[in-house]
Amino acid sequence: MSIYLSPSMLSIDFTKVGEQLSIVEQAGTPYIHLDVMDGVFVPNISFGIPVIKGIRKCSHMVFDAHLMIVEPERYIEEFRKAGADIINFHVEATEDPAAVIAQIKATGAKAGITIKPKTPVECIRPYLQDLDMVLVMTVEPGFGGQKFMEDQVPKIKQLAQWKKDLGLSYDIEVDGGITLENVRTVLDAGANIIVAGSAVFGKEDIAAAAKGFMDIFKEYE
Ligand code: DX5
Ligand code: ZN
Repeated sequence: MSIYLSPSMLSIDFTKVGEQLSIVEQAGTPYIHLDVMDGVFVPNISFGIPVIKGIRKCSHMVFDAHLMIVEPERYIEEFRKAGADIINFHVEATEDPAAVIAQIKATGAKAGITIKPKTPVECIRPYLQDLDMVLVMTVEPGFGGQKFMEDQVPKIKQLAQWKKDLGLSYDIEVDGGITLENVRTVLDAGANIIVAGSAVFGKEDIAAAAKGFMDIFKEYE
């Protein structure tokens, strides 16, 4: 399974969005992770539909949207129209995850489900066969720059095991506190899409930071 970096735009310099997006794109990063926060599901507000629509005009990257919003079913079509290629929603944010997955797929986007650190991984077991991606949070969602929660690693391992046992092919994405120092821990557990915000856009040399991750990925090819 291919391993990809998905740099989180939450840590970008918002005075240089176009410029910094092309730095990671040219460094060979196919994904960009877009953290949408509503101030209700998480105690922070980030950016939303108009921003995604705006950057769609200057980027060919795969738009990996992470919706930290309540009742995501209200906005799926709009995020797709704005340019999201993958739409991840939180299992804790809706009463009917199966319906949201179907709604995302009906738009032509790939469907992903996300779990917060306190949510048992068993909660998403019933939906696995319908998913393109699962996203394991390794920090409490809401803010960049937090410390990686190592106690979430067994969830990644369980998802990798289920994938094998059930003959499925969903991507396993990991998000929160990932650095060059701890990324091997999540890769060893079976993750293949790695979100990194401060460890990429927070660095002086963004291209070198992205390449640092990609060099490690080569060890797993
Ligand atoms: C947190 C977001 C993350 C965040 C990651 O709620 O979902 O994507 O931007 O940032 P770092 O890599 O700095 O933990
Ligand atoms: Zn995220």
